[in-house]
Amino acid sequence: MNDVKTHYDELLGSVYSWILGDFDQAYAKNSALLDELDVRPVSTGIAIDLGAGPGCQSLPLADRGYKVIAVDFCAELLGELQSHAADRNVRTVCGDICDFRRHAERADLVVCMGDTLVHLPDRTCVAALLDDIAATLVPGGAAIITIRDYVSPGPTGAKRFIPIRSTADRIFTCFLEYGEDVVNVHDILQRRTAEGWTLEVSGYRKLRLDLDWVAGRLAASGLTVERRFESGGMLGLLLRR
Ligand SMILES: C[S@@+](CC[C@H](N)C(=O)[O-])C[C@H]1O[C@@H](n2cnc3c(N)ncnc32)[C@H](O)[C@@H]1O
Repeated sequence: MNDVKTHYDELLGSVYSWILGDFDQAYAKNSALLDELDVRPVSTGIAIDLGAGPGCQSLPLADRGYKVIAVDFCAELLGELQSHAADRNVRTVCGDICDFRRHAERADLVVCMGDTLVHLPDRTCVAALLDDIAATLVPGGAAIITIRDYVSPGPTGAKRFIPIRSTADRIFTCFLEYGEDVVNVHDILQRRTAEGWTLEVSGYRKLRLDLDWVAGRLAASGLTVERRFESGGMLGLLLRR
């Protein structure tokens, strides 16, 4: 298995946006979700996007008047974010989300969306990050977390091979191995070249995080769970200080 950064740098970062599909559609979905959750700037105007990727949350946040700090350790994806952002008020930070407080002491909104939280190495890191999120929020500020459900039993047998996307020159498949606390995710990328098909395989671990545990941790740090929701196959929480 690789560590997450190596996995994104060597394989997933180069095809993440292709897997995601049309960026404008991803923007529109996140934009609609932000409208539904009714989040808006309250005092600092700062929103921190943890694990921003190509920016499908950062851009709609900027378009709602936030000054966005987009944190991610995958330089390739942050480069894509910058080209999508054009002259919007988005500052990119290439670094670990666990160190995000170095870049902003206070914020109106912190989002950690699209399954990013489960990428952290262990629950101690997750707990520390959640404590930092709670401590960063101003009164009236909000946090949005979305993760996939890896707590329910996973697929077995051949169903562990998940076709993610294929086009004429690329095929991307995931192979999932469920353990007690983690899921080993093996990404399989086949590319058509002039010499024939190539195969790249890289694996990383995702935590089997329970959203109730996440909610409990943030509640213990003084946030109130305002809403639970489902969006794009993910489970979500909206919390308020
Ligand atoms: C599944 S993607 C989600 C991207 C985006 N939020 C979305 O919804 O499309 C997870 C992102 O988190 C980043 N990431 C994961 N762990 C990280 C860490 N510890 N520090 C910085 N970035 C991290 C990855 O590089 C990747 O861009």
